[in-house]
Amino acid sequence: MISANSPRDLDALFARRAFEFDHANPILADLPKENNETISLAYGDADPRLFPIKELIASVGGLLHENTDAVLNYAPSDRALTELVATRLQRRGVAVDPQNILITYGSSQILGLLPQIMLNQGDIVIVEGPTFLGGIEYFVTQGATIETVPVGTQGMDIDALEETLKRLAGRGTQAKFIYTIPTHHNPTGTMMPLENRKRLLALASTYGVLVLEDDAYGDLDFRGEMAASLLTLPGSEWVLHIGTFSKILAPGVRMAWAYGPTAVMQRLRKFKSDQGAGPFITRLVSFIAQDGWLDNHIRYLNAEYAHKYEVMRDAMATHFPVDVQVSTPGGGFFVYGYLPQDMPARALIDVAIAHGVSFLPGTVGYANGGGTHEMRLAFSFQSEANIVDGIARLGKAMHAYRAQQ
Ligand SMILES: Cc1ncc(COP(=O)(O)O)c(C=O)c1O
Repeated sequence: MISANSPRDLDALFARRAFEFDHANPILADLPKENNETISLAYGDADPRLFPIKELIASVGGLLHENTDAVLNYAPSDRALTELVATRLQRRGVAVDPQNILITYGSSQILGLLPQIMLNQGDIVIVEGPTFLGGIEYFVTQGATIETVPVGTQGMDIDALEETLKRLAGRGTQAKFIYTIPTHHNPTGTMMPLENRKRLLALASTYGVLVLEDDAYGDLDFRGEMAASLLTLPGSEWVLHIGTFSKILAPGVRMAWAYGPTAVMQRLRKFKSDQGAGPFITRLVSFIAQDGWLDNHIRYLNAEYAHKYEVMRDAMATHFPVDVQVSTPGGGFFVYGYLPQDMPARALIDVAIAHGVSFLPGTVGYANGGGTHEMRLAFSFQSEANIVDGIARLGKAMHAYRAQQ
């Protein structure tokens, strides 16, 4: 019984899941701080030099002259953006029902909403190990029990996935969804081959598990080729696909999309309690994308990011010890490194920071432990000069770490 004399405790008021948040990220909290001198290769921010500033200014001006009421008043999202997403999915061979497209504030919004409609406390979600840290956090804070399936050189290990699904079925339980980044994977940069994509969906159908296909880097292919979305393969009725304008326009516009089965989309729409994506920002994105501009811009970005990757690759070949292995991505924002046994990433990072460079330790991408000798290097954000300088500093840090052992 609460009386006027009971101790007041704000913490006593929170839902249980709000406390999960406190534990979600001890690894990041423990990392040494970057400073003004640090060349950060840790985070996959877009390259600000590649933002289409002139076009954005012109588009905002054009919009405000066009129909102020439609973009600045209480108004629905711009249908043209849904149509743009529909056209882009159709071009990839998806038989699109536009009713099932949802425009969201970043694909992160779906990573947060999907657990709300799918998970009861303790329900199982299968993720790749390693995977995108944001995904783990959203799932764990909403009560998920995480099962990890390893990522090899060809993305998620499908044999290991099958074993996991079998093991769960043997226990009389099942996962609610499988979170995968099949194309230009974050953090490893790997690509899941077509055959494995098909096997993944066959398993999802057999075991009755939803597949969350995160296609954040789908458009960012150095050769301008697009991998087959899971939406185009047999079993696609088990797929919820998310894509984003963050990487192909600017993360700050916070525009993204989801497409999937009607039953899922209806519930996501219901739980997305923001009255729909805003008319101003949705119109801005559809306005700037028109007449093939976005396609041209993506071609330009791919050429630029491919070049930045090559700069990083060449610098690593020059400066890293020969027993440090690195991935060879065909797109996306990241190189993944595998460190020798005598060089754990967490210890190396202290020396790296002292040498003026940072990276993300692999442990961050593992929900159930692992990745102690792995690291993610982003080539997306820094200038080419800084990439060369940063990798030279990291190579020095690696040699220095070895020398002090
Ligand atoms: C794999 C992956 N998914 C989702 C996101 C989040 O993207 P958005 O800006 O659309 O929320 C990122 C951003 O880094 C990502 O790497």
